[in-house]
Amino acid sequence: MKSPTKSKSQISRRKFIERSGIGLAGAATISSFPNVIARTVAPADEIKVGVIGCGGRGTGAALDVVNAATKVIYPLTGYHTEDAEEGAKAQAENIKIVALADVFPDRLESCRNQLKKVGVEVEDKYCFTGFDGYLKLLEIGEINYVILATPPHFRPMHLRAAVEANKNVFIEKPASVDVAGAKSIIESGEIAKQKGLAIGAGTHRRRENHTREVIKRIHDGEIGAVKAMYTEFLIGELWSVDRQKGWSDMEFQLRNWLYYINLGGDLIVEQYVHTIDAMNWVNGNHPVKAIALGGRQVRTDPKFGNIYDHMSVQYEYPDGVLGFCMDRQINGCTNRVQDIIVGCSGKATMGYGTGIKKDDGEQWRFRGDRINAYQLEHVEIIQSIRDGKPVNEAKQVAESTLTAIMGREAAYSGREIKWDELMKSEQNFTLDKYELGDLSIAPVPMPGTYKFV
Ligand SMILES: NC(=O)c1ccc[n+]([C@@H]2O[C@H](COP(=O)([O-])OP(=O)(O)OC[C@H]3O[C@@H](n4cnc5c(N)ncnc54)[C@H](O)[C@@H]3O)[C@@H](O)[C@H]2O)c1
Repeated sequence: MKSPTKSKSQISRRKFIERSGIGLAGAATISSFPNVIARTVAPADEIKVGVIGCGGRGTGAALDVVNAATKVIYPLTGYHTEDAEEGAKAQAENIKIVALADVFPDRLESCRNQLKKVGVEVEDKYCFTGFDGYLKLLEIGEINYVILATPPHFRPMHLRAAVEANKNVFIEKPASVDVAGAKSIIESGEIAKQKGLAIGAGTHRRRENHTREVIKRIHDGEIGAVKAMYTEFLIGELWSVDRQKGWSDMEFQLRNWLYYINLGGDLIVEQYVHTIDAMNWVNGNHPVKAIALGGRQVRTDPKFGNIYDHMSVQYEYPDGVLGFCMDRQINGCTNRVQDIIVGCSGKATMGYGTGIKKDDGEQWRFRGDRINAYQLEHVEIIQSIRDGKPVNEAKQVAESTLTAIMGREAAYSGREIKWDELMKSEQNFTLDKYELGDLSIAPVPMPGTYKFV
């Protein structure tokens, strides 16, 4: 999740790139495929965007792609919003938002209104609601860039449909909520590679200039071989909405998807995947096993579905490198989001005070301006498409999601879970049908009796 109540500065695309210190050519080389089969978009073509999932992040991503400043708010009651900042205008050149799809008309309209504020009009005929709205949007031939920002339950099926419809795609994290979904994302990534399509992921820490710099220094050996990573995402409760008269179970759960394992994946998958992705990046690999604990101690009201409110995982990477994770969403406790990477000859800190302290006393601290990674992700993905070297981050974000699922299943079951066992699992939370009706809730997983299969 983003930090609460943060406002993004409104800057021109050119200035933004200059300020980030990342030239366009350099930006496009990051995780690009060297052997591209076809160019799907000519350098001068207009990027025509379709947004699927027009809630808080979908609206924010739509404003980010057209370079309009946003104001991000996570209230305790009500939806998380990423609305346009007062007076903001769309500034991106040659990028147009063409179509919107959301299961609920009110959420689509709210996004459409925010876009209107910054000067972006979406025609009625290109606004689609219902569970099949995404398919109608994908039928629009002129769309060449699709943003997927629904709850992660739908990501694998939406990504597959988007790639089959020959669209370049930006997928929000996490990649999925279950093992089968993550494997499907990896497969979609392979199909996209063959078709020369881009898949960029919303694991935005990969695009933070301060995180890039400290991880480069770690990879360059400034703290010696990495031995352990201590990471924390300790924050208060997230947003939720109260049930309205007339809402079916499915509607209530979809509008509060964060609290349902099958829709959001639980806090470690939905939120901690950012940190796990950074740990995997530092290591250049995913862990081989996990042991964990967790529970649901304070957020016990039935309106909070069946997820935990805290979890702690110990991951083991190849060569015995350990990753310790603490994730908590409980009010009234210490809030802290930071990572400490311990090497043989020093340690690195990532988060608010990004820097390096070597055992010999030498220190480095990131002192530059932090760039807006939420805008940069679109700039880089789109530039890679225009350059004919489309980024493909499907496997990377799917492996980070699988790492989070491995930790979740270790906490739920109370058992050590190995990567090999995870990959043999056919865990699949897909429903037989999607309609606004009754929907039962699985019990809260109990360590010792819960079975991971
Ligand atoms: N990168 C980040 O920092 C960040 C921050 C917040 C959220 N996210 C991710 O973005 C995604 C969305 O989160 P959010 O906070 O915007 O949630 P949200 O509930 O505000 O938005 C989700 C939207 O998807 C719609 N939707 C649900 N099912 C749908 C379907 N089948 N077809 C079409 N639309 C559907 C909902 O009606 C809603 O408008 C999640 O995966 C979340 O983890 C990422």
